[in-house]
Amino acid sequence: MRPSHLDELSIDVERLTGELDQLATYSDTPAPSVTRVLFTPRDVEGRAYVKALMRDAGLSVREDAAGNIFGRWQGRADGAVGTGSHCDAIPHAGKYDGTVGVLGGIAAVRSLKAAGFSPRRSIDVIMFTSEEPTRFGIGCVGSRLLGGAIAAAGVDALTDADGISFATARSQAGYEGDLAAVELTEQHYDFFVELHIEQGPELERQGKDIGVVSAIAAPASLRVSFEGDGGHAGTVLMGTRQDALVPLARLIALAEDLARTSENPDTVATTGIVEVHPGAINSIPRRATATFDIRGTDLTARQRVVDGVLDEARRLADARGLGLEVETINADPPAETHPAIVDAVVAACEDERFGHTSLVSRAYHDALFMARKVPMGMIFVPSKDGISHRPDEFTTPDEIRRGVAVLARTLAGLADGA
Ligand code: GLV
Ligand code: MN
Ligand code: MN
Repeated sequence: MRPSHLDELSIDVERLTGELDQLATYSDTPAPSVTRVLFTPRDVEGRAYVKALMRDAGLSVREDAAGNIFGRWQGRADGAVGTGSHCDAIPHAGKYDGTVGVLGGIAAVRSLKAAGFSPRRSIDVIMFTSEEPTRFGIGCVGSRLLGGAIAAAGVDALTDADGISFATARSQAGYEGDLAAVELTEQHYDFFVELHIEQGPELERQGKDIGVVSAIAAPASLRVSFEGDGGHAGTVLMGTRQDALVPLARLIALAEDLARTSENPDTVATTGIVEVHPGAINSIPRRATATFDIRGTDLTARQRVVDGVLDEARRLADARGLGLEVETINADPPAETHPAIVDAVVAACEDERFGHTSLVSRAYHDALFMARKVPMGMIFVPSKDGISHRPDEFTTPDEIRRGVAVLARTLAGLADGA
């Protein structure tokens, strides 16, 4: 899958970095941090900007009921290749996570057009809805719906911290219609390839330009709440109180221990949200809730941590006479990339004479759920010091240019190949 006629390919990286900077201005927190949460006014502004860039690149724009955005470059024949990523950003994030794959996808199309390429299969640049779990608690909502990896009926009923449902939020952002109709058929795309920053240190450590992703690690997330009877911090003596937070603290520490001592070094566990009610210095916590984000490349090792946390939560609740609520938000299997796409990415790196290496993705991506329907691949570019989900996330313009060049050649190969 090597498009022989693509000798010259020039990426206008100054334009692309200017567009990434502009997109970063649609943020609820001041630069350099970026906060762009699903269906908020800033997200809607970002969406309008992405659609304008798609149209400017000559793509025809379609949006589905979930708010996934598709910019299509119509091919000469049947079939289609998808690329893309997300533009939502967790609180106090940087400006490259996801956006490089969306705006880079549009830039790849521009460069292929400028090189005179005309695709046999259509090429879609996709901006997926809510890859980040910030607002509704679960990540990759758009790609889960496209991949048939979540029941459409449950999605509209999800609520945010203010009790606003997904149904209301999408309608306020202008998205109506049946979420069940979002799911793709297996024939819709022939291939899907996502360009993304690595978000880890491997490419820098190995001195390579491009990561050719071999597999995406399996993510799971839980929400655990203990309920006690609260009371006055001074007058309820230690022997009689039912503190909801102390067992939660023990559970968080246990999750860390289980992940640290896992037989698989890729197994990780994180508590990123803790909520305590009523949240007063002189009040015993009556209700305490924590999230557990547990992942790994080995499903058995990941599941051992999940099961260990769930077992211990039940034991702590029993031992202390507490109420317990447990929600498994998601527990997804890993996905392997498809050899045809891996070959196309490697061929593109070799055409460009870029150093490349095979990498596992420890972060999850929309590609994980596109893989339920479509042969999937991913291209990584370096992240400075491996930093991501922080305002100082950084990838140099040259690194982005290389990633877009590889994406463009890969798309050309997949669009014209067998
Ligand atoms: C994606 O943002 C992830 O948390 O892996
Ligand atoms: Mn992210
Ligand atoms: Mn991302």
